[in-house]
Amino acid sequence: MAEAEWAIILGASSGFGAATARALARAGMHIVGVHLDTRATLPNAEKVRADIESQGRRALFFNANAADPGKRREILDRVQEVISGDPDGGYVRVLLHSLAFGTLRPYITADPKEALTKSQLEMTLDVMANSLVYWVQDLFWRGLFRRGSKVFAMTSGGSARVIPYYGAVSAAKACLESHIRQLAFELAPAGVAVLGIRAGVTDTPALRKIPGHEQLIEQALRRNPSGRLTEPEDVANAIVALCHPGTYWITGCVINVDGGEDIVG
Ligand SMILES: NC(=O)c1ccc[n+]([C@@H]2O[C@H](COP(=O)([O-])OP(=O)(O)OC[C@H]3O[C@@H](n4cnc5c(N)ncnc54)[C@H](O)[C@@H]3O)[C@@H](O)[C@H]2O)c1
Repeated sequence: MAEAEWAIILGASSGFGAATARALARAGMHIVGVHLDTRATLPNAEKVRADIESQGRRALFFNANAADPGKRREILDRVQEVISGDPDGGYVRVLLHSLAFGTLRPYITADPKEALTKSQLEMTLDVMANSLVYWVQDLFWRGLFRRGSKVFAMTSGGSARVIPYYGAVSAAKACLESHIRQLAFELAPAGVAVLGIRAGVTDTPALRKIPGHEQLIEQALRRNPSGRLTEPEDVANAIVALCHPGTYWITGCVINVDGGEDIVG
């Protein structure tokens, strides 16, 4: 029997992460889902888990901060335990980094108390950018990747463009794209590809937290040459296609999945 294929989805309970978890389960992968939910939103994670299991796949879900090194160790210990208990073995075919956990404060304000702080900026960079590096390092050192494994990370047009209140997240996206290049370079000899996915404006809980998101939606609807917003499933379908073995030579780049929104922006 072939080794079982696992996908680790960071941000599995909502938006792109949830849609991709479902799509990769349909494509035959078992799913490790990491998410951070309160009692109010926990049912979303339960629903994703149930949908995966209804496909006949395994779902290991953890309600934990993906940027906490101790939690990362516990989660990967459990993943290794499950994989080593499978007589066919297994490996991590896909890692998706799709965490939305940034501060949305301006840098410059009349009242200093209203402005972005050092700890908020560092937290945003840690969760939304640097945590990608630590997950990839640990998966590599634990021998969980194989030739053909893929790492995806969600970026946005904000990596190179100003959006009000989005300064810390913009910085995190620019940093994330740098990590994507460096990881792709260092993992190429191991046959592991690393790709950024730059999604168009998508109506998710994370987008709705951005002050002025109504204008972002309205501008995207006006600009997008395909005439609609991006849907989480557009990204999930692209990631499934980019998992096809024939795509192994694509690495170190950022792919727009936005119906053409970025080229007219
Ligand atoms: N929505 C958009 O328009 C858009 C566009 C381009 C890129 N993105 C990026 O896509 C990614 C996902 O965004 P989304 O719109 O799907 O958001 P979302 O709010 O729908 O989902 C975010 C997910 O991340 C999880 N999460 C947040 N912080 C976490 C943490 N510390 N540890 C573990 N899990 C955590 C949440 O539980 C949830 O499952 C983000 O990086 C976002 O910047 C979003």
